[in-house]
Amino acid sequence: MSEPRNRMFRRNHFKLGTFSANCSSGMAVTKVPERWVNSWENNLRMAQICDANGIDFLLPIARWIGYGGETDFHGSVLETMTWAAGLLASTQRISAIATIHTACNHPVVIAKQIATIDQIGQGRAGLNIVAGWNQPEYEAMGQTLPDDHETRYGYAQEWFDIIKKLWREPKAFDWEGTYFKLKGVYGNPKPISGTPPIVNAAGSPQGREFAMRNANFLFTPAIDLERSKDEIAELKEQSTHVGREVDVLTFSTVVCRATEKEAKDYLEYYARQNADWEAVDNLVKLQFAHAHSFPHDLLALIRDRMAAGHGGFPLVGTPEQVADGITALHNAGFGGTTLAFVNYAEELPYFCDTVLPILEERGIRRGG
Ligand SMILES: Cc1cc2nc3c(=O)[nH]c(=O)nc-3n(C[C@H](O)[C@H](O)[C@H](O)COP(=O)(O)O)c2cc1C
Repeated sequence: MSEPRNRMFRRNHFKLGTFSANCSSGMAVTKVPERWVNSWENNLRMAQICDANGIDFLLPIARWIGYGGETDFHGSVLETMTWAAGLLASTQRISAIATIHTACNHPVVIAKQIATIDQIGQGRAGLNIVAGWNQPEYEAMGQTLPDDHETRYGYAQEWFDIIKKLWREPKAFDWEGTYFKLKGVYGNPKPISGTPPIVNAAGSPQGREFAMRNANFLFTPAIDLERSKDEIAELKEQSTHVGREVDVLTFSTVVCRATEKEAKDYLEYYARQNADWEAVDNLVKLQFAHAHSFPHDLLALIRDRMAAGHGGFPLVGTPEQVADGITALHNAGFGGTTLAFVNYAEELPYFCDTVLPILEERGIRRGG
């Protein structure tokens, strides 16, 4: 059976990607000197390691204002559409996703940009839609974050309906909507193999409904796998209900070492002794003020996980233990996870050499 060009559309294959390498410190809110430097050179090196080892996708964070603290966590961020374009041009197999805020990006421009980077990658582009939650960023752009989720997602729906129509419709059309009035607009070229994979990370009921109607992949935190099992079953049912198939993905923090002790010691060193706690608390405060992504009753546990990897599921231990963690995510019903390391380019080769063969042996992933 031939595999789809875009690895995001592989079936029966637990997908692995990287997350947030375009941002300073990646996902680790830490002061350690070896923390991730989000330079283009480092991103390119990381992407090429992933590409050579059959990692499936590269997911960036779109961020305009950092979280402060001593390190100004996420104070430096490579813009995601241009980042994806550069990486697609420099790789052969991996999918690269652009993360786009609906509020500050015109849909006609985004439709064309995605179609363009899809040509650059010959069918390997993807789009992560962010409907908005980060108040200071709205203020920085001179915009107002709507208080209610109905408006945020109502806007996002119209925004994405325009993009889909531009990707589908052969002729010019007019658009008379609530938020957009367009005249004689058309999209040419179109993405090269239909609609590229659409990703969304909503937590609110309105956001989840948006994801069920529009996305191929919904991202949600994996805090407690028993909860995740029920949540995924419910989401799958919801998507079947609207006649769609939506896969649920999560994001993880990886510390993979030859011994469990080494891995745990390193976690303690970077995520406790040397965490940038001021930035962690700013991150938690902002997340809980405007978004529903994380369950609010698990705050204490989440604070530690925020320091280690922005709230990601911990995959900490030997290659076998890390593979066990990934298998547990798979068994809970997740279709994939992103991976984040304190230093992606330094740590990925060991992960790929030791963990990927175990996952292939267990039949969770296919190589190649
Ligand atoms: C995997 C993942 C990726 C995300 N990427 C971004 C991002 O790049 N930029 C951003 O502002 N928010 C990002 N978010 C935050 C979500 O988009 C945010 O939680 C959502 O907009 C809040 O929606 P809600 O109010 O429906 O929960 C991400 C969240 C997750 C879990």
